[in-house]
Amino acid sequence: MKKSVSILFVCLGNICRSPTAHGVFEAMVKAEGLSDLISVDSAGTGDWHLGRGPDQRAIRAARSRGYDLQHLRARQVCAEDFARFDYILAMDLANLSNLQGMVPADFAGQLSLFLDYSDLPRSSEVPDPYSGGMDAFEQVLEMIEAASQGLICAIKDRSIAHKQST
Ligand code: 4NP
Repeated sequence: MKKSVSILFVCLGNICRSPTAHGVFEAMVKAEGLSDLISVDSAGTGDWHLGRGPDQRAIRAARSRGYDLQHLRARQVCAEDFARFDYILAMDLANLSNLQGMVPADFAGQLSLFLDYSDLPRSSEVPDPYSGGMDAFEQVLEMIEAASQGLICAIKDRSIAHKQST
């Protein structure tokens, strides 16, 4: 059975930012007792790292805050994702633009920047840490934790509003 809300995080390679968001958000969903209702996945717009685990620096930064990313494997966004996911959340404007070029006319979900769920100004991006050091990965993790809190709140508000209207 399809879970009530499904979320796909998207970056370029699916080895740094989106698997971090996948692991962090999944842990928050579990901590909130919402695992039966919310499903989480991640993918990349590029195909260079298909089948690989997350970058070791992303794994290390996440582990230092208690999140496990070891089990995740990179995959590429595909047409079926627009039928499967309610929220498709891009890490930066280039990923968002790529996704906007793929979106079918009947997509009924929400396609936006992930950081629109944070307190940062609109159009803020999670910067690509791939060519940076550990500090870049730690900054990414902080932004992702903040936006994940905002996203959980938005989903809870939406489901409360839905319950009240039915
Ligand atoms: P990500 O980071 O999009 O956050 O997974 C990158 C990973 C790999 C590459 C670029 C960004 N790359 O060029 O291989």
